[in-house]
Amino acid sequence: MKILVLGGAGYIGSHTVYRLIESGNEVVVFDNLETGHIEAVHPKAKFYKGDLRNRSEIDSVFDKEKGIDAVIHFAGYKAVGESVKKPLMYYRNNIDSTLTLCEVMNEHNVKNIVFSSSATVYGTPKSLPIKENFDVTHATNPYGETKIMIERILNDLYVSDNTWNIALLRYFNPIGAHKSGLIGENPNDIPNNLMPYIVKVANKELKELSVFGNDYDTIDGTGVRDYIHVVDLAKGHIKALNWVLNNNGIDAFNLGTGNGYSVLELVEAFKKFNNIDVPYKIVGRRDGDIASCYADASKAKDILDWSCTYNIEDMVKDSYNYVKGNK
Ligand code: WQD
Repeated sequence: MKILVLGGAGYIGSHTVYRLIESGNEVVVFDNLETGHIEAVHPKAKFYKGDLRNRSEIDSVFDKEKGIDAVIHFAGYKAVGESVKKPLMYYRNNIDSTLTLCEVMNEHNVKNIVFSSSATVYGTPKSLPIKENFDVTHATNPYGETKIMIERILNDLYVSDNTWNIALLRYFNPIGAHKSGLIGENPNDIPNNLMPYIVKVANKELKELSVFGNDYDTIDGTGVRDYIHVVDLAKGHIKALNWVLNNNGIDAFNLGTGNGYSVLELVEAFKKFNNIDVPYKIVGRRDGDIASCYADASKAKDILDWSCTYNIEDMVKDSYNYVKGNK
């Protein structure tokens, strides 16, 4: 198959491109390299530098690249804290680019899409584990709201034209890296997310980790999340691609392990399996955080025939392996 990957130079996008090529697909990558890295793009992928907000740039890719079977859409801003400070930038970028993409896809009669959504669409869940039929009307930040809005846009698009085939993938917390160490999570500045921060502390690029609160109603008081290996996540995209190419309709799927780990449990696992210290201090809670979040992943298993294969040891070792290899 010939697959166009928007945002394929990013953390999850680059891992999915590797998996697509390893699975024998022809891949075209379109990325503005604002947060992605050109060296993360698989050498066998065809690369176009461009911005999804610029209609002529994405339109010309469809003109040049005939026979695109499906699109995977990763392109968008994704930092929760930044979205609270710059909501207009997030709404303009994430919504606008998706509207442009759908219009151009429609004009070129390409109507198979896998969309990168997020567990943040659930906001504060009413219970755990989280199921796809839970309420998705209020996120706790503008980033999550953009994902809710885009899911709604894609649902309305399908209602208007049921020849579209759409998979909405709700990621939990992706961490880890490709076993080769060639690609991984490589934030340009101080990391917002937990694992890249831990890695920089272990690598002595940052002094110590601040643990945002230990007074939550959890096993040890620190936040619990469903960490999923980024390669398992990439494999989920291949399964979702197969689903959109062989089924008619639109549907949402949780991509998580179903297991929750607290901040301190993840820190201790990282220290144990990498045999390295990670100094930390307990500080106050971070605005917008919820206590616990983990998936019921049974729908993706039943319908997509997908389930996770990597455990927390793989995740913490692969995360550090990538940084060690790229010192
Ligand atoms: C995890 C836990 C923090 C940093 C976000 C997005 C989500 C997805 C993944 C895109 C929490 C704690 C963190 C730190 C800490 N991204 N923490 N010290 O907020 O669960 O999810 O990233 O789709 O959409 O919302 O991930 O890694 O920021 O936080 O104690 O320096 O680690 O409080 O409990 P989060 P995170």
